[in-house]
Amino acid sequence: MLSQLLYPNLSFLPRFLVDLFTGFLIVYALRLALIAFNRSRLLRNATTGPIVYLSNLPGPKSPSWLWGSEWEMYNTSPGQKYMEWYHTFGRIFKFKGALGSSFVTLADPSAIHHILSPQHCYEFPKPEGERQFFYTLLGKGMIWAEGLTHSRQRKILGPAFSSGALASLSTIFFDSSYKVVRAWNTLFEQSSSDSLTIDVQRWANHISLDTIGLAGFSYDFGTLDPNRPQHPLARTLDGFTDSSGTHSFSAFLVHSLIWAFPAILRIPSNRQKALSKSRNMLAEITNKVWAERKALSNPQGSGKSILELLLKAEKPGSASNLTKEQIAAEMMTLIFAGYETTATIIAWALYELATHPEIQEELRRQVTDISLSDPSFEDLHNGLPLLSAVVNETLRFHPTFMQIHREASKDSLLPLTPLPQEFTQTGITPTTGTHLFVPKGTILILPINIMQSSEDVWGPDAHIWNPYRWMDIGATGKEANESKQTQWRKDLLIFSTGARGCIGHNFAKLEIKTVLATLLRNFAFAPADNNEIEPLLSFVVRPKVKGEHRSSLPLKITRLNY
Ligand code: HEM
Ligand SMILES: *[C@@H]1O[C@H](CO)[C@@H](O)[C@H](O)[C@H]1NC(C)=O
Ligand SMILES: *[C@@H]1O[C@H](CO)[C@@H](O)[C@H](O)[C@H]1NC(C)=O
Ligand SMILES: *[C@@H]1O[C@H](CO)[C@@H](O)[C@H](O)[C@H]1NC(C)=O
Ligand SMILES: *[C@@H]1O[C@H](CO)[C@@H](O)[C@H](O)[C@H]1NC(C)=O
Repeated sequence: MLSQLLYPNLSFLPRFLVDLFTGFLIVYALRLALIAFNRSRLLRNATTGPIVYLSNLPGPKSPSWLWGSEWEMYNTSPGQKYMEWYHTFGRIFKFKGALGSSFVTLADPSAIHHILSPQHCYEFPKPEGERQFFYTLLGKGMIWAEGLTHSRQRKILGPAFSSGALASLSTIFFDSSYKVVRAWNTLFEQSSSDSLTIDVQRWANHISLDTIGLAGFSYDFGTLDPNRPQHPLARTLDGFTDSSGTHSFSAFLVHSLIWAFPAILRIPSNRQKALSKSRNMLAEITNKVWAERKALSNPQGSGKSILELLLKAEKPGSASNLTKEQIAAEMMTLIFAGYETTATIIAWALYELATHPEIQEELRRQVTDISLSDPSFEDLHNGLPLLSAVVNETLRFHPTFMQIHREASKDSLLPLTPLPQEFTQTGITPTTGTHLFVPKGTILILPINIMQSSEDVWGPDAHIWNPYRWMDIGATGKEANESKQTQWRKDLLIFSTGARGCIGHNFAKLEIKTVLATLLRNFAFAPADNNEIEPLLSFVVRPKVKGEHRSSLPLKITRLNY
């Protein structure tokens, strides 16, 4: 009946086909109606203020229908395009990626807070392409997981990162730092010179990898031992991230197509080979450590190391059981998430201290004055304001990641912050109660670099590395205008926040502080001759010498007290 009405001329087709098609049409129409109904309910609910739609948003014209703005972004300094767009289009803008994909960038504290908040974080999962990347490399670990699977994993691992657990890990941080001191002293003894040029990035990588191995899994990668051959994992991880940093067209392809076409990750390539090589190697190590620990008479032990917690969770029937594959994925995730991130911040901090000799001197006085021996855990964790400020400022000024990606899993309304007049007002101007409507599937970018370097928030010297900004004004900003302060706090986004924020963030800070304090007590740092250092975007943003392809940070180092 209905089909006759809809398409009377199709009566030559078999009846059942027409019925089937009609059925599909009806279901489809109902779905559309339901979506429209829900959408209108959602929008009606927001009657308290105006609604901004994606079509209202400003943004750059797409320079290419094929690549969108991706090629431009790939060929400028990391994060530079975002800052340009921020200055031209304001805090909220959209731009095109490859194959027609589109992105919405939200440099808006309320929207970011909403997306990352515990109540809403699972409504905004990582985009499919990014999850596919983590799955290919690390398996179904915490970085990949969403929803209940994620909160369960997080609950199991949480205790390993408590401040009690950190206090007992701090000896490992010191051990790693002293291994470097000894290795460098050996280098000095072997040479007749009193100053040596050393690739600090390489040593920071070693510190970070050995530390995460020992702290997490009681596994010694041994990369800080100059007499041991380079650990194959270190070589593979470096090769992988360095190759993704070079300007090869295939790296660009993966980078830009992952959003519209996640399956790109399964296409064989060098990068792909490096990816699966590190994954296999991590899995091998995991299996080895896992078997060793299992073989012990009391595998649970009394410790709270990450591995012990995971082994406890492996017991079937325990409230939170994990399979062996899940444990392996978790261990790989922690190595991957904790290795390069921490290493590059150590390197950037030493670079900034080398180029700011007065601050280096003052910091050295602080970490030396407290006592003849090493600073205590308490000092490092909560004391030593200049050290804390140097770490904060380095995290602000050299963000490891440029942005956090999320996808709206359903139609959503994002609250926007009404900002006072003295803010640069370009683009849309939210007032009290303004919301942004994002339809299901919108890819959202939370721009860490804009949030951490906007002059509107950090003042006219935002583009300068200045740790004293943290001490004079604290994280809330004494000298800042009160009205600004309450709207857009001087806060770091680099560890993200909430239930999906970086689980290792105190671990990383404590490790960085321990390494800096120990190295400054033993060595002085200065820029190497004739080297200009610039950022290189690999998996994280690393330092590299201008004109070279690989990441490195040569600094001139002298021994103190000799
Ligand atoms: C300076 C160092 C570090 C920085 C800047 C950093 C930054 C971040 C950021 C931004 C995220 C959130 C990513 C997202 O949601 O899209 C994250 C997540 C994570 N980080 Fe870190 N991280 C650092 C060090 C570490 C360390 C040392 C560890 C482990 C020992 C670690 C383990 C993790 C894990 C497991 C997650 C996933 C958490 C989840 O999804 O629930 N990170 N990190
Ligand atoms: C609209 O608001 C009501 C109460 O304020 C809430 O129960 C309902 O879930 C909301 N609907 C939508 C679609 O958000
Ligand atoms: C894990 O525990 C749940 C109940 O807590 C149980 O249903 C499931 O079978 C267990 N899985 C394993 C692998 O032990
Ligand atoms: C560093 O930043 C954290 C939060 O991001 C803050 O709690 C801490 O007080 C800051 N340190 C200093 C010295 O301002
Ligand atoms: C703070 O902002 C208000 C306007 O919102 C302005 O009248 C006042 O002069 C500003 N104060 C400072 C210290 O900049």
